[in-house]
Amino acid sequence: MSEKELEQVSEAEIAVHWQEEEVLYPSAQFIAQANMTDADIYERFSLENFPQCFKEYADLLSWYQYWQTTLDTSDAPSWKWFVGGKINACYNCVDRHLPKYKNKAAILYVPEPEHEPHLALTYQELYVRVNELAVLLRDFAGLKAGDRVTLHMPMVPELPITMLACARLGIIHSEVYGGFSGTACGERIADSGSRVLITIDGYYRSGKLLDHKENADIAVKVAEEQGQTVEKVLVWRRYPGKYVSDTPMLEGRDHFMDVVLGDYVGKRIDPLPMRAEDPLFIMYTSGTTGKPKGCLHSTGGYLAYVTGTSKYVQDIHPEDVYWCMADIGWITGHSYIVYGPLALAATSVMYEGVPTYPDAGRAWRIAERLDVNIFHTAPTTIRMLRKAGPDEPQKYSYQFKHMTTVGEPIEPAVWRWYYDVVGKGRAVIVDTWWQTENGGFLCSTLPALKPMKPGSAGPGVPGIHPVIYDEDGNEIDPGIGKAGNICIRNPWPGAFQTIWGDRERFISTYYEKYCKDKKSTDWRDWPYFAGDAAVQAEDGYFRILGRVDDVINVAGHRLGTKELESACLTVLEVAEASVVPLADELKGRVPDIYVSLKPGYEPSRELQGKIVEAIEVSIGKIARPKHVYIVPDMPKTRSGKIMRRVLAAISNRSDIGDVTTLANAEVVEEVRRMVQGDG
Ligand code: WTA
Repeated sequence: MSEKELEQVSEAEIAVHWQEEEVLYPSAQFIAQANMTDADIYERFSLENFPQCFKEYADLLSWYQYWQTTLDTSDAPSWKWFVGGKINACYNCVDRHLPKYKNKAAILYVPEPEHEPHLALTYQELYVRVNELAVLLRDFAGLKAGDRVTLHMPMVPELPITMLACARLGIIHSEVYGGFSGTACGERIADSGSRVLITIDGYYRSGKLLDHKENADIAVKVAEEQGQTVEKVLVWRRYPGKYVSDTPMLEGRDHFMDVVLGDYVGKRIDPLPMRAEDPLFIMYTSGTTGKPKGCLHSTGGYLAYVTGTSKYVQDIHPEDVYWCMADIGWITGHSYIVYGPLALAATSVMYEGVPTYPDAGRAWRIAERLDVNIFHTAPTTIRMLRKAGPDEPQKYSYQFKHMTTVGEPIEPAVWRWYYDVVGKGRAVIVDTWWQTENGGFLCSTLPALKPMKPGSAGPGVPGIHPVIYDEDGNEIDPGIGKAGNICIRNPWPGAFQTIWGDRERFISTYYEKYCKDKKSTDWRDWPYFAGDAAVQAEDGYFRILGRVDDVINVAGHRLGTKELESACLTVLEVAEASVVPLADELKGRVPDIYVSLKPGYEPSRELQGKIVEAIEVSIGKIARPKHVYIVPDMPKTRSGKIMRRVLAAISNRSDIGDVTTLANAEVVEEVRRMVQGDG
């Protein structure tokens, strides 16, 4: 092994080795109503028919001006789709449904407190609220097409309303997950160059009304320190007319959205026709270095892709009640709560809070009451619901036809509980593999056409042609049980166009590794490198093993180890920090932290607490580590690199391997005893 390989440890390496599983077939009843039952679709979307095949998805949308060029590769690998076309995402998600569906619920909102009434936002009401807000954004906030605006909002109906109002005018929204800290939000404001922050005073989480406005003040301060002034902070109120935060409003800078909106009642504004390749939004995600990457998504390509996959993979019809339990602050929520479902005139359910609050039956009560028939969540939530109430689903009379799992590999045993108990043995399951960068699904079964296999995402979805390469770029054949780097051979309309402000990094992270010719404008020379390890079975199904880079997938949320390590280093006493993924029964992975101290400092509980706090302040509670070990020294190579692989093996009680070549081999046993005890 090279020194580089010795230093690294990846999630993929600690992945469990699963057995090949039996397949299961969808019911005749499901197939009878499915949107896609034509097996020829794979033929239509074959590489021979690429890129024209994606016309099928573009034609699900309404265009102001039809496009001429399906795929423009001149600026490879920033692919431009449907060039020449003019389109508006808000128009496609709202206005065009009015003639037929104005009185149908677009969003069904469920507040966390169970005594609070649900809200049904019809397409007409959505239209009105989006229009009024769009005029406010233009006239009060001074925003125009191409400007960035940061949203730091939890799961409230005002979040999709704000996103759609931005989209109506071509304003690029950058929504930061509500659970992220003010500091994390501030960094993203600075990176995107937002002059306006849109937030809320508070929201419910596990029965507590959280003060969210305090994060806005921190965010503005952090952005200012990084050179970006926020001129206006627009604050929605969880209860219009009543301020629930203890944090004061700053005169001149902070404004209550419900008050300002009073001046915009009844206002309307036409959607702005955008070029297909104009940006729709930025979504930040963690990468290998500390700085988060702002993935820039396009308007026409993105919307076509999420609409097509919502229709054929999610099997959404306008008459369905569709509930994706993700948070809109992540890409899953953007694509599969907001843009995809609304483009199809679906009824999309939004839930404010925690699925097990106040008890393990909550999610199923919501499903029963709203008569949800399509359900979408992540393995970490399934594990949590299974642990909290393995028998709860049968107490409720909901009936799902279709369920999704997304965000991390799902263990076959957990899959089976999802299938047997949550789906009552009748719902079809799709395991969808994809990433923030991708806009929409990459691998999944088409639910009426391909059987399900527990733990496997399935083949590429139509038009996606995955391949597994070894480190040297040789293709690894299916069925030989060998893992490698999963890549996509071809571009697709949902692919992000660049990293905001950092094209170099865009190319080096995703395209350089297997690029045959960096000057080429032929897409065949630019396979997309996903950063996940996978194996492909004989039948072509892919099983995803986890990240191969310095990213830890905690409960389906991507955290960069560098981000965590930098947070630790903000603590005065800490000299070195190293973060490794620890396998966890509920969350899939959690961070385990190893630190060594500067001379003269002693380990203490208090210091461990300070390190945890530093992580929560700079990233958020989702990044909270399982353990903080204060060690005498880090295991290091002779060139001084910290051996994460060894630390990960210690945390996970797996084989530490040969450490005799280390500079300080004796430290390994000392650290092992500290973590594992004397056994
Ligand atoms: C992981 C979430 C196994 C993977 C949509 C990927 C999965 C990262 C699956 C992206 C799945 C996502 N099976 N692993 N079905 N879906 N992943 O950007 O490691 O938040 O690279 O996008 O989650 O996470 P992201």
